[in-house]
Amino acid sequence: MKIAIGNDHAAPELKLAVAEHLREKGHEVTDTGCAIGEKCDYPNAAKKVCELIRAGEAELGILICGTGVGMSLAANKFKGIRAACCSEVFSARLTREHNDANVLCFGARVVGEGTALDLVDAFVDTPFSGDERHARRIGLITAIENGEL
Ligand code: RB5
Repeated sequence: MKIAIGNDHAAPELKLAVAEHLREKGHEVTDTGCAIGEKCDYPNAAKKVCELIRAGEAELGILICGTGVGMSLAANKFKGIRAACCSEVFSARLTREHNDANVLCFGARVVGEGTALDLVDAFVDTPFSGDERHARRIGLITAIENGEL
């Protein structure tokens, strides 16, 4: 799977661990985040990943900041992006199954590396259920995004 990953200055080390983990599992990872020692603002980092998804150059995105919250707020401003901020595995799995989320956000100051890798595995390995009721609700989110609701 093609996965884009981004981070701000709160999370370069965790980003590297996540990218390595995904590559070891055979995924193609595009790292758009900032490096250790660099400063960057999370909305700019979110934009880079969301644009790759919107352009079809990545199927899923992972955004890591201090809490994951700023990244999810910024990412959800982009059309077609459904970003979920998760700090436990159940939500990371369900947001794929029910919400067809295409971006996972979490915080390097909230979760440790072990939990982060579990979140990533749950998110990446779970497909959207395709269930009609979930698809209808996602359609309603899209209608809100388009000013139709
Ligand atoms: C940066 O210090 C911090 O505000 C950011 O990483 C993030 O937690 C914002 O939501």
